[in-house]
Amino acid sequence: MAPISQPVVVPPSEAAVVLVLTLREGDDQPVLEAIADLTGVIRAVAFRYPDAQTTCVAGIGSAAWDRLFPGKPKPNGLHPFIELDGGTHVAPSTPGDLVLHVRGKRFDLCFELADKLLERLDGLVDVADRLQGFRYFDERDLLGFVDGTESPSGDEALQTVTITDDPPFDGGSYLITQRYLHDLTAWNGLTVEQQEAAIGRHKLDDIEIPDAKKAANSHVVLNSITDADGNDLKIVRENMPFGTVGEEYGTYFIGYASDPAVIERMLHNMFIGDPVGTHDRILDFSTAVTGSLFYIPTVDFLDDPKLA
Ligand code: HEM
Repeated sequence: MAPISQPVVVPPSEAAVVLVLTLREGDDQPVLEAIADLTGVIRAVAFRYPDAQTTCVAGIGSAAWDRLFPGKPKPNGLHPFIELDGGTHVAPSTPGDLVLHVRGKRFDLCFELADKLLERLDGLVDVADRLQGFRYFDERDLLGFVDGTESPSGDEALQTVTITDDPPFDGGSYLITQRYLHDLTAWNGLTVEQQEAAIGRHKLDDIEIPDAKKAANSHVVLNSITDADGNDLKIVRENMPFGTVGEEYGTYFIGYASDPAVIERMLHNMFIGDPVGTHDRILDFSTAVTGSLFYIPTVDFLDDPKLA
């Protein structure tokens, strides 16, 4: 029977909670038992409100994998997030042993589910990073641009995120998360035309700027990549705005792919540049403060986390 994937590809959500967790020192057995209980907790909250489409994806980081499954096979792409230092901007690598990505139409239920999941892990983990994100109007990020337009959906999204060439890890996926903080005072000091040149799309109507007129350091140019045969390489993005009014404004980057190398190439282009030195203009207004990489196992594995 084909393995059952976690709900990585879901209908558009209005709210998200992401918990990046680190494992405490101690016995591994209670951790494995807690992981095996997660899908039951998810059902208990989500089942009562089907219209709210509350879902959760759980993932495991590289160091936790080595600790929980010593001497066992490891997913090919699972390694610590690789820090990138382009001289001007840095993408730091920060701890993350487990991740919980809760999404849905209602923030209250996302909050409830994340809280219940954390309760099940009580005493075993510490919270290293926590997002409580909201969908901003018009699907915009807090830079004011529509965010997610070119992210694949439906069957294309499933193909983009699902591992098919790494048994016994097929049906799983990879997730990279990064917290970005925006300097909105500086960003709002730009003209709309300068902002559009930084992104590569028009601000109001979201129409793409023609290739011949796009700036080489625009976000869209640096993130449009192809393989050796010229095929587009894509990832599924689930970015979420977050903030505290008057104080903090940010974007939580949430990117899924069947191979983390695709996301890593995009990050390389953004921070180191393509060509080298041409870093992404949005980084002059957006600082990455966290960065973690996770393997997203199948539901079957989550329910019974062990390897032959
Ligand atoms: C496109 C915002 C970080 C990958 C876009 C677009 C916006 C945007 C507004 C254009 C509309 C769309 O197609 O979604 C942001 C913001 C970020 C961020 C505010 C963080 C501050 C990242 C990161 C990656 C990434 C870290 C990859 C590692 C992409 C890709 C596209 C895109 C692949 C589509 C390019 C295309 O094919 O047209 N992003 N993004 N973004 N972004 Fe980001």
